[in-house]
Amino acid sequence: MKRRLIAPSILSADFANMGRAVDDIAASGADWVHIDVMDGNFVPPITFGTKMVEDLRGRTALPFDVHLMTRAPENLVPVFAAAGADYITFHLEAAVHAHRVTQSIRGFGKKAGVSIVPSTPGGALVSLLPFVDLVLVMTVNPGYGGQTCITECFSKIEELARLRQREKLDFLVSVDGGINEETGRKAAAAGADVLVTGAAFFGADDKAAFVERLRG
Ligand code: DX5
Ligand code: ZN
Repeated sequence: MKRRLIAPSILSADFANMGRAVDDIAASGADWVHIDVMDGNFVPPITFGTKMVEDLRGRTALPFDVHLMTRAPENLVPVFAAAGADYITFHLEAAVHAHRVTQSIRGFGKKAGVSIVPSTPGGALVSLLPFVDLVLVMTVNPGYGGQTCITECFSKIEELARLRQREKLDFLVSVDGGINEETGRKAAAAGADVLVTGAAFFGADDKAAFVERLRG
């Protein structure tokens, strides 16, 4: 059985102490660093640019899971690839030529991810699945940490895991939004391979114990 991966999101960290936040993630035993890039357009807030990713890159060898919540993601792929991203995930809703975006990401030697917001059906991804390394199912409307998980979205995790098996594909299914111990357990039962966690991780006093429990 595959090991479940835990990806704490630095969106819920103290932005004045981002280096320390990444150190805390590494020390907790978590697997990836999830980096939420927001452009003030696809979603209302603005978060990080490439300089943040570049500067954090030196702090850890953990994979950087960059989640682009931006319009025109194709314009940002080259610069985030150069900044040190390992996975680059864009939103299906923000890309006209989604297949071309996946090819571009892979062309830079990076893992290609695609994400869908809660109102987008899982079936919208079918023709893209052979070309991605990761599918990120959003279980909140993107833009903010600390929201309540929309558990109705878990059926999309099951659907994607089923499609993967049927079509003999090998992408990871990741889940993002309101993931804590309880929702994490349900997402994992639905078939999620990667659990993104922001508020719950940074709110935990003992982060290593939290990661262990979340991993299940
Ligand atoms: C929300 C982001 C998430 C966020 C998750 O738009 O994509 O990655 O940081 O945070 P929690 O776990 O607090 O919902
Ligand atoms: Zn995210």
